[in-house]
Amino acid sequence: MSLQKPRGTQDFLPQDVEKWHYIESKARDICRRFQYNEIRTPIFEHTELFQRGVGETTDIVEKEMYTFLDKSERSLTLRPEGTAGVVRAYVENKLHGAVDVQKLYYMGPMFRYERSMAGRYRQFHQFGIEAIGSADPAIDAEVIALGYLFYEEMGLRNVRVELNSVGTPQCREQYREALRQFFQPNLDKLCKDCQSRFERNPMRILDCKVDGEYCQGAPSILEFLDEESEQHFLKVQQALTAMGIPFNINPGLVRGLDYYTHTAFEYMADGIGSITTIGGGGRYNGLVGQIGGQDKPGVGLGLGLERLLLIMEAQQIGVPPQNPIEIYVVGLGEEAEARATALVFELRKAGISAERDYLQRKMKGQLKAADRLEAAYVAILGEDELARGEIVVKTMATGHQESFALEQFVQQMFVILKSRSPQHL
Ligand code: HAM
Repeated sequence: MSLQKPRGTQDFLPQDVEKWHYIESKARDICRRFQYNEIRTPIFEHTELFQRGVGETTDIVEKEMYTFLDKSERSLTLRPEGTAGVVRAYVENKLHGAVDVQKLYYMGPMFRYERSMAGRYRQFHQFGIEAIGSADPAIDAEVIALGYLFYEEMGLRNVRVELNSVGTPQCREQYREALRQFFQPNLDKLCKDCQSRFERNPMRILDCKVDGEYCQGAPSILEFLDEESEQHFLKVQQALTAMGIPFNINPGLVRGLDYYTHTAFEYMADGIGSITTIGGGGRYNGLVGQIGGQDKPGVGLGLGLERLLLIMEAQQIGVPPQNPIEIYVVGLGEEAEARATALVFELRKAGISAERDYLQRKMKGQLKAADRLEAAYVAILGEDELARGEIVVKTMATGHQESFALEQFVQQMFVILKSRSPQHL
């Protein structure tokens, strides 16, 4: 039997990677404008980090982690998400000593042992941001706005922002008690998972895919918010409104991670079967302290990039070619071919993306190849041109042909290509 990739993973071939490059460049650009800087943390961490950070009663920690012992019997885990690692790096590298808010972003693979389906993978990729060091509701709104603008700039239509507040741990304790009272009469009808969630973390029941009918009429977290939480929530809404970001308050929104306080949000879009959440995040005051640092408030988001690509496909959003051939050099005859090899090298040294034939094709075949590869220009060098010290340059979009002196060819192509719009360069 031939070997296949593990379930829930994907190969990305060059035409796919082109889309990834596009998304990544857009993500980097938006982070530049919002002043978030990239951080890179390990793909695996000590298991305890996620147990403490993500939370013992979450599905992620209970059933979805790729945990293994290394050769020294240390328990390590492939990161299921990015926040815990970033917060650990923040503490370990003493970034809390900095005067300013630390605004960080990351992109990379995450791993969760989930039932795989369209939009749900065991290795998937997130673009995430974390702003650590400020409790100002304006930065919650900034984070939500960055995600919203990112989707908008990717061309997505109809992305909805669902917003909730999960308050402080104290409000949540009271809320949990109210939920227990609410679910108690139907406790034996709930699924096995929810029966165990009932004691440990009844808010998770609201997120259950099976027990939806028993959640109807459940009390809302918003009734349990204290004054401080209410004020924070209100200010986030005001800041979003000021930026013109539409949102929908959804008191049933409970995120799958334990570290959230106050703001919790998700981005939703249709187009991937039953999956509608394409990104999410929230505030996590208390997490830095829990991971071992001097306590600092934080807020962030994680956007699933496979889901973004699936929605782009569903909405037929194309990606401009990321590595177009600017010039294809056709050399005909032994001597001209040798010269063409040198010219292609000169063009490349000058910063131009250039290609040539390596399959000994005749003129017609080479022109066809240039056309298929969507080269912007084709330069033709035959024995006759070589004898005259010239090269013929054809503009593929118009069919226009012109002869250049061989000596000046590279320089002239550089000038021509420079004057074209940057997307062709
Ligand atoms: P999360 O909601 O668990 O949050 O994941 C964020 C996004 O990652 C999801 O909305 C989804 O697009 C994508 N995602 C999650 N699991 C999978 C999967 N199995 N397959 C494909 N895509 C998936 C977090 O991870 C938090 N760290 C976000 C955050 C950052 N909160 C504060 N800061």
